[in-house]
Amino acid sequence: MTNQDDQFKKVISHAKEYGYVFQSSEIYDGLSAVYDYAQNGAELKKNIREYWWKAMVQMNENIVGIDAAIFMHPTTWKASGHVDAFNDPLIDNKDSKKRYRADVLIEDYCAKIEAKIDKEVEKAAKRFGDSFDKAQFLATNTRVVEYQEKINTTLSRMAKSLEREDLADVKALIEELEIADPLTGSRNWTDVKQFNLMFGTKLGASAENAMDLYLRPETAQGIFVNFLNVQKTSRLKIPFGIAQTGKAFRNEIVARQFIFRMREFEQMEMQFFIKPGTQKEWYEQWKETRLKWHLSLGMGAENYRFHDHEKLAHYADAAADIEFKFPFGFKELEGIHSRTDFDLSQHEKFSGKKLQYFDHEDNSSYVPYVVETSIGLDRMFLAVFSNSLKEETLEDGSTRTVLALPSVLAPVKAAVFPLVKKDGLPEIAQQIVEELKWDFNVVYDEKDAVGRRYRRQDANGTPFCITVDHDTLEDNMVTIRHRDSMQQERVKMDALRDIIKQDVDMRSWLMKM
Ligand code: GAP
Repeated sequence: MTNQDDQFKKVISHAKEYGYVFQSSEIYDGLSAVYDYAQNGAELKKNIREYWWKAMVQMNENIVGIDAAIFMHPTTWKASGHVDAFNDPLIDNKDSKKRYRADVLIEDYCAKIEAKIDKEVEKAAKRFGDSFDKAQFLATNTRVVEYQEKINTTLSRMAKSLEREDLADVKALIEELEIADPLTGSRNWTDVKQFNLMFGTKLGASAENAMDLYLRPETAQGIFVNFLNVQKTSRLKIPFGIAQTGKAFRNEIVARQFIFRMREFEQMEMQFFIKPGTQKEWYEQWKETRLKWHLSLGMGAENYRFHDHEKLAHYADAAADIEFKFPFGFKELEGIHSRTDFDLSQHEKFSGKKLQYFDHEDNSSYVPYVVETSIGLDRMFLAVFSNSLKEETLEDGSTRTVLALPSVLAPVKAAVFPLVKKDGLPEIAQQIVEELKWDFNVVYDEKDAVGRRYRRQDANGTPFCITVDHDTLEDNMVTIRHRDSMQQERVKMDALRDIIKQDVDMRSWLMKM
């Protein structure tokens, strides 16, 4: 087992042990790639959603938020292209009977070469010490250059073949690269076929009259079909945005890696409607703004990178991912897509209704262009959770597990302890909880020695622990302990609200954007 696998296993078991994420219907042995958020997970997820909503909707006068239904008229998906083109290329292994995404097999092959590059860089960095110039090494080391070329030609050929729908060439590529079934090593592959990812369902009481529906595979279409309603009722002028968060469903062929790729997941999307011809500048601007949002959480600039798409979705003229360094390597966290006027034009065509904007400035009507930002809430949860989980060795040689969540997102902001369960200390601690719960999610804990309570809250991600002791009875002061530094200070009880607020308030975090 690699270090990465090991770290990822720790993330999954910690998420279960501390009430963040459970396998769905676990008592029936679970349902593949479906997960439930537990008491702490639901809070963390809500906080991430609010952090996004604040930054995207409430802080922008020209962006409004909606909440469209999951069910939509089935023609929506014909118009959007999802019925015909929302496919993944799948391939079966004839010996193991396992099914894979052909493009993922090829991407995993390239990821292995990338891991070799990382190893070379690591070795060279050790060898050269402070004088090591990574950029120069990547550009000049023969072996690394060869590796990089192999990745580039492989991915570029795959992208072109997929674009041309040349599935025979995708299979040929898998065979030429001698890619084997990761589970069994067999290279006995079927042809590559397309597989539509939408889940179907039926609306109506009787079988004869039932209408075939789809569970939405993206939230974006709920925004497009409401574009004119929102524009007219809000009187927003272009450029403006419509945002929403909500569930989306995809029948993923290979759903693995915990909550990274699920069959039911949540998206946070924003469609920004602009004048045709301005898409390039807005696309660049939204790439930058979204990266700043991520960086404001302080999870390390080195953990993010942009990846420009070679294979564009059927609706896009430019697209990039913000990738994050998950425990299993850099993977897509968010997409920024320049969607042209594809969606609105298609909905005009299929509905027969005009979806145009009248521009008073130049006295003309047009179908707006759209730049979209689209992030998976569950993926963001995994990014935050996995990045925060740390094993620390302390000065005295002991170790502690700390979930160093950005405090603005932490499910529980403070835990309040009485030092002992007597002498009136529990009553004071309860009183503090009563006072703080108006502003923050706080808990009371009196079980075990204080040291163990600290460790429990560290592992739970709680930024503050507040302890009431016998001196409190005399001076109305308590000890507040900070999760990350473990420093303790004695403060007045009535200062607690401000101290916590200063640290967890969205304002101070978003100001860093
Ligand atoms: N409206 C555009 C759109 O849906 P996408 O790249 O297919 O674009 C956007 O999805 C984001 O949704 C991804 O960057 C990812 O964070 C998230 N996402 C997509 N499929 C997912 C899945 N099966 N499980 C969890 N998150 C997913």
